[in-house]
Amino acid sequence: MRKTVEVSAEELRESLDAAARLKEELKGRDLRYYIESYGCQMNDHDAEKLSGMLQACGYSPAPSKEEANLLLFNTCCVREHAEKRVFGNIGALKKRKENEPGLLIGVCGCMMQQREVAERLYKRFPFVDLIFGTHELHHFPLLLSRSLSGERVLSIRESDGEIAEGLPVVRGGSFSTFVTITYGCNNFCSYCIVPYVRGRERSRSPENIVAEVRTLAEQGFREITLLGQNVNSYAHADDGVDFPELLCRVNAVDGIERIRFMTSHPKDLSPRLIEAMATLPKVCNHIHLPVQSGSNRILTAMNRCYTREKYLGLVRDIRAAVDGIELTTDIIVGFPGETEEDFSETLSLVQEVGFSAAYTFMYSPRLGTRAAAMEGQIPEEVKKERLLRLNACSAEQLRAGNQKYVGKSGTVLVEGFDRREKTPMAFGKLTNFKMVYFPGGEELIGSMQNVKITGTQNNSLIGVLAE
Ligand code: SAH
Ligand code: SF4
Ligand code: F3S
Repeated sequence: MRKTVEVSAEELRESLDAAARLKEELKGRDLRYYIESYGCQMNDHDAEKLSGMLQACGYSPAPSKEEANLLLFNTCCVREHAEKRVFGNIGALKKRKENEPGLLIGVCGCMMQQREVAERLYKRFPFVDLIFGTHELHHFPLLLSRSLSGERVLSIRESDGEIAEGLPVVRGGSFSTFVTITYGCNNFCSYCIVPYVRGRERSRSPENIVAEVRTLAEQGFREITLLGQNVNSYAHADDGVDFPELLCRVNAVDGIERIRFMTSHPKDLSPRLIEAMATLPKVCNHIHLPVQSGSNRILTAMNRCYTREKYLGLVRDIRAAVDGIELTTDIIVGFPGETEEDFSETLSLVQEVGFSAAYTFMYSPRLGTRAAAMEGQIPEEVKKERLLRLNACSAEQLRAGNQKYVGKSGTVLVEGFDRREKTPMAFGKLTNFKMVYFPGGEELIGSMQNVKITGTQNNSLIGVLAE
């Protein structure tokens, strides 16, 4: 287990001092920012930290992209289309920048940690002012200050990764939020770029995590999602706390009512974790457990370190132990060398498990990963056709699975409401992540409601407030 390296207090202070200086210098100016964030919850949470730092610099959020004088693109590179979208959206700003020379454009996030891509973007779009990689996040106020004084900045630091504690955060929600527990990834699944752009896996100290959760509970947050590329391998070298023990400590925080976590890797899902899920009252009965493929041959080529049988065994164990648990998953189709037979094993696994949601992707070769250089790359049409068949199969499973809820009741944490419907519909999730819509208004947002399920619609459940 590697010791976690935290960014030193001096380094952090230097950055926050730069923010305070900027705030002083920029006083009286109307500075508005807009962040466009792509990719996973990690990136969304980074965007909340960028917001925190920007507000410390004296910026306020712009109501729309058009009203902002600082645009920040927090990029993702997990699949090719994510990359294409960013290049397209940035390219489209050329005219606006000509008409509005005061507009500052920044690009950061995972895609910018790939040096060759960042340099390509820097050359291709001379109107981009500021580019920085994932390991520079905590230096943002320093970089912004250079940029504001007219310098064009490209800053990418190679690093295994450190942890920057104590950055200011402006959270998107007020009752449900994310807490990062691990950064980076060591798994090197052969298709995946994440380990290259997020550095080695490192775990925050349990004290810092619990302190953050406690503060969030005091601020009124009721639901916490613990985040990491592979939360199951959370391990803090200093005191030997592992993930089940961490769940236990978070469960003890007063005021928090629901604990979720993602993502779980099947190879590290231990019996102790299943036991913790079964016994800790606040830990929700849902697990996002990406399977990626149902074929052992492909799982080996993917370097996933488990078999189809091991995965199905875990599903059985977890269903036996945790009441009403629902599973969601990620699946890739068209991995190099995937035959029709391999693919049919993925379909049969989906049928056997009955996921409540499957996030499905066509394999996308990523520069520098092992799979990108493998023989047997699958043509796009074949990938597309397999994706359609897989989606049809998982939709059928979902429909069948939803039926068992009709007539039952459960508690929904209300997330929002949809006024487009004839009757305004409130919506939110059961503890097991099933989405429920029911007649109700805006005032219910953030509350827990007991709802009786009366039917199903698309992927969701429909209900009414229970008496
Ligand atoms: N750490 C998580 C999530 C990683 S990215 C995990 O291990 O599951 C989210 C999902 O994107 C992955 O689960 C995988 O299904 C998909 N993905 C990653 N790299 C991909 C690639 N090169 N092509 C297609 N899908 C990919
Ligand atoms: Fe990528 Fe695998 Fe790490 Fe997930 S566990 S981030 S899929 S390398
Ligand atoms: Fe997430 Fe995309 Fe980076 S999925 S970790 S934002 S490459």
